[in-house]
Amino acid sequence: MRTPLIAGNWKMNGSRAMAAELCKGIAEGANSITNAEIAICPPFILIPAAAAIIDNTPVKLGAQDVDTHGDGAYTGQISTSMLRDAGCHYVIVGHSERRALYGESDALVAEKTKAVLTAGMTAIVCVGETLEERESGATEDVVARQYKAVLDVNGIESFNNIVIAYEPVWAIGTGKTATPEQAQAVHAFIRAQMSSQNNKAAQNCRILYGGSMKPDNASTLISQQDIDGGLIGGASLTASDFLAICAAA
Ligand code: PGA
Repeated sequence: MRTPLIAGNWKMNGSRAMAAELCKGIAEGANSITNAEIAICPPFILIPAAAAIIDNTPVKLGAQDVDTHGDGAYTGQISTSMLRDAGCHYVIVGHSERRALYGESDALVAEKTKAVLTAGMTAIVCVGETLEERESGATEDVVARQYKAVLDVNGIESFNNIVIAYEPVWAIGTGKTATPEQAQAVHAFIRAQMSSQNNKAAQNCRILYGGSMKPDNASTLISQQDIDGGLIGGASLTASDFLAICAAA
């Protein structure tokens, strides 16, 4: 049985005051969520403020990105050991915004995944196609390529400690959600890729859906057989919306 995970990706939003208030709201509501694991991924600089409030609550902490190197002369970067030291359990890697806006390649995403796993944290690896790729029938090819890059560097066993987030780029922040059937089809495809090599890893690996998941569409998405939760952007910035999605899981 895979425990659903609802992870909030705050992206580049917030302040210390906002983080304190949002975390307080989420932490209070989290006590009544028994069927899902909850995580929040604030911007790096707000991680300590969030950690101070969610410490000793069921809410877990994550980061939105990380560098592949160990501590050293990498101005402006954040290492896995810093994130672990700050209390992070999860690290998002390969979000489509990082791939598209900051030129992150499949190879770099695979190396970031490796760095996260080596540091003993869980990677939330994002995959997903653009609208153009979907319309040209390339969805499975794109997702398979992104998955295989991580597989080649980390091996199939690593998927016991990886969460995959399927996020169709055309659904992110657009209010245009994939239908439950569209999402389920890609999730099942990803799981089949894994199970062709190792059925246990395929059954253990949680595959989240991301892309305009909201309180009103969360339960139909998460009730699909291969959808094990959500990576939530916009709706994770409001405690009541985020908790409603957690409750739907
Ligand atoms: P959204 O973002 O929920 O605002 O569409 C999801 C994501 O980018 O992780």
